[in-house]
Amino acid sequence: MTARLRVLMVCLGNICRSPTAEAVLRHKLAVAGLDGHVEVDSAGTGSWHVGHPPDLRSQQHAQRRGYDLSTLRARQVSEADFDRFDLILAMDEANLAELVQLRPAASRAELRLFAGRPVPDPYTGGPAGFEQVLDQVEAASEALARELTRRLGTS
Ligand code: 4NP
Repeated sequence: MTARLRVLMVCLGNICRSPTAEAVLRHKLAVAGLDGHVEVDSAGTGSWHVGHPPDLRSQQHAQRRGYDLSTLRARQVSEADFDRFDLILAMDEANLAELVQLRPAASRAELRLFAGRPVPDPYTGGPAGFEQVLDQVEAASEALARELTRRLGTS
């Protein structure tokens, strides 16, 4: 099946927030019956972790809620992403500002904050930060799945 809409989740490292958002949104879309209709990917504005799996803490907190992040690998956002993806969703204002800078003038991709407010970077904090990421990402993914159901119809 060819995807009718493509969504890219973006954070700084692509090892904590955006891979979590990628896996959770995939799950919520499957529940909504939209898997196969929407392509979901994630990337980072930075290049430090390219090729790495998600941070072990993100993997472990996500696993406890039933999400498997282990097969994901970090990559950096590229200009080509602005052609490929319809919706590019930033985790925080700094990620969004970077994306605005990178965006080619001809891109028609819609850029915005994923959760409507920042999803704070959990990298240098404790376990509560990783739980907060999951709480915010689950709520925002459910809202996005509802939005995409409306946009695409249920067929
Ligand atoms: P993320 O978290 O942007 O949610 O993947 C971070 C991971 C690594 C770094 C920063 C944020 N870092 O500076 O290495």
